Amino acid sequence: MKAMQFAVFGHPISHSLSPVIHQAFARQFGLQLEYTAIDAAPDEFAEAVQRFFAGGGQGANVTLPHKAAAFALAGKHSVQATRVGSANVLTRLPDGGLAAHNTDGAGMVRDITERHHVDLRGHDTLLLGAGGAAHGVAWNLLDAGVESLTIVNRSPEAADALADAIGEPGRVHTRYWKDLGNIGSYDLIVNATSAGVLGTSLRLPFALAGARALCYDLSYGAAASDFLVWAKTAGARYALDGLGMLLETAADAFELWHRRRPDTEPVYQSLRRQYE
Ligand code: ATR
Repeated sequence: MKAMQFAVFGHPISHSLSPVIHQAFARQFGLQLEYTAIDAAPDEFAEAVQRFFAGGGQGANVTLPHKAAAFALAGKHSVQATRVGSANVLTRLPDGGLAAHNTDGAGMVRDITERHHVDLRGHDTLLLGAGGAAHGVAWNLLDAGVESLTIVNRSPEAADALADAIGEPGRVHTRYWKDLGNIGSYDLIVNATSAGVLGTSLRLPFALAGARALCYDLSYGAAASDFLVWAKTAGARYALDGLGMLLETAADAFELWHRRRPDTEPVYQSLRRQYE
């Protein structure tokens, strides 16, 4: 019998951990599957996805820069994908069409609440960035019960647009990046900017991190290190990278495709050892 086929699409994609993660999950259930990393430039993405599914592909993960394009390709969209406007998982529908899902925000919240045992209710939250990654987590932070969500972005228009899209003026506010030094302190600070990936430092004021602050970078490895060093120096109670989020979002994709829930912890621990 031919192995089930899955793939992750991105550009670049060579450093993706998704193939290793999905094979580790599959071993937990004795499943045989192929999981390949497919590098597709933006103008080749739609055709590459269509070719993959026409050739028997059963599900795909989608990462930068294709998440909005993946959403547009699908004929059906989950509630979360619809509010975020992008997708990180594609599943095949019985009629051959595609369904788009977005598991990023749920994965981050589950990493914080279940792996790190922090209840987000009541947290005054600062969200740094207002691009695709920030959209992916904003609604889930609110669903998790944060007290307030302050969005700060280098270009203020994008922060305003995200706040407007959320439409909860009682809990969601925007501030200017230049004012970060005098907007008080926060219980939860989420770095959703791409500064770390681009190799630049955010140079954040230490006063932002309150005494019980949880500082969370959506990226991991070298891309997260500047923010995490800042958080530890600022005295944050927790300084977490997004490796756990990656595992949880992968587990959600796995469950959508295989109807089984993998145990993320052993895979997380094994990958964590590579980043220490
Ligand atoms: P992603 O999908 O990773 O979110 P994106 O949609 O291009 O990528 O968004 C990148 C985010 O990082 C934006 O919020 C961007 O701010 P601008 O909208 O002002 O460009 C933010 N960002 C990138 N580099 C930054 C830096 N050096 N300082 C502050 N914000 C930065």
